[in-house]
Amino acid sequence: MSRKRTSILLFSDDKEISSSVQGALANLQGLKVKSEEVSVANLNGKAFDMASENDIVIFATDPENTADLSAIKQLNARRSQGTVFLALTDSDIPLARVRALSDAGVDDVLPYPISQDELSRQVDKWIKKLAASTMSLGDHEGVIIPVVQARGGIGSTTVAVNLADHLITRKGRFSKEVSNSVALVDLDVQFGSVGDFLEIDPQQALYQMAVGGVIPDAQWVEQSMTETEGGLHVLTAPQDFMPLDAINDKQVEVLIDALRRTHDYVVLDLPRAIVSWIQPVMEFADELIIVSDTTVPSIRSAKRLIDFYKGENPGLKVNVVINHEKKPLVQAHHHKEAARALDLKFENWLPHDPKAARMSVDYGKPLSAVAPRSDLNKAIAALAKSTAKAMPAAEHATH
Ligand SMILES: Nc1ncnc2c1ncn2[C@@H]1O[C@H](COP(=O)(O)OP(=O)(O)OP(=O)(O)O)[C@@H](O)[C@H]1O
Ligand SMILES: [Mg+2]
Repeated sequence: MSRKRTSILLFSDDKEISSSVQGALANLQGLKVKSEEVSVANLNGKAFDMASENDIVIFATDPENTADLSAIKQLNARRSQGTVFLALTDSDIPLARVRALSDAGVDDVLPYPISQDELSRQVDKWIKKLAASTMSLGDHEGVIIPVVQARGGIGSTTVAVNLADHLITRKGRFSKEVSNSVALVDLDVQFGSVGDFLEIDPQQALYQMAVGGVIPDAQWVEQSMTETEGGLHVLTAPQDFMPLDAINDKQVEVLIDALRRTHDYVVLDLPRAIVSWIQPVMEFADELIIVSDTTVPSIRSAKRLIDFYKGENPGLKVNVVINHEKKPLVQAHHHKEAARALDLKFENWLPHDPKAARMSVDYGKPLSAVAPRSDLNKAIAALAKSTAKAMPAAEHATH
């Protein structure tokens, strides 16, 4: 299971300081480091936004400089919950100045110059503290399953909705039926149709998160979700139109983290566009489902998606689900060619079943409720079963 890396942002217009800090950070594993050539006093709106998207922000400052102090206060006013501010400052500043920095919001003051070893040690201390504070929220780790499409209209929302629905029930000990807690989130925020598929009015939560800069903690997630009759916890796409990049990486990261702490399975319906916040989604993903057909254009596009996502996350597990085709008894030449092109096996085939698909959309209910005996419902139930078998829900579920 891949987990997210700690992100560090450095603000400094002094090349020597930048290279010394970068050298120190190079000693530490699993970091995502960005460096901006700007002094604290000259930070602009974009820099403030960047700061709120990182776990640790390091900057050099002169506490005698009032412009620096007021910039740090502004940074502090807009910081995300959990972001740590480390200030590098002259090694012999008076205690009163250290206090002023800490009042402005700095978490730790590090003397500069500092040896690379010492700086790595100090930063590592904060990385461990951050990890410990997120662990204390609970160590429940729900399974994260993003669903993407090889071409528009191929059926990815159908798969996301019905897979989530079928993941709710499972056979427990002695074949007793028990319920998993399952979340379904429509991250196709511009054109998402999960709400229509389940007859839920559009919720503004994701819009407020994006536009209002809300950091979606567990409580926000719980308040924002709607529960369907069947027990699925759903967050739909908003009614109001918003640009995809109104959402930032940090918000998505915190959102998924909160979801996995409160649910056994989290199914995410993703937009077709590739945006920067897809990266945290893939970092958390236990398995990426790509819905495709076996035509050449779809397979080519599936291949590009796999290459792209795996390039950034080599450990990512991918399952290509073939829609509109029932499982062939013997795979035809073009099936084998397609599987070879993607370097994987097609395990899940969903038949073309317009009647069942249409009924589900018309009634605004999952297939299991309106067409339980349909071939399409049975095939998605089998997909859920094999998914749950490969990635069982943790025993210590909180719901
Ligand atoms: N196996 C199937 N057989 C018949 N119809 C299907 C099947 N799967 C999906 N459909 C239908 O195809 C249409 C598109 O499906 P869906 O909205 O799930 O696709 P999508 O990939 O999410 O599309 P979009 O690009 O709009 O996000 C819907 O009307 C759905 O009911
Ligand atoms: Mg869709």
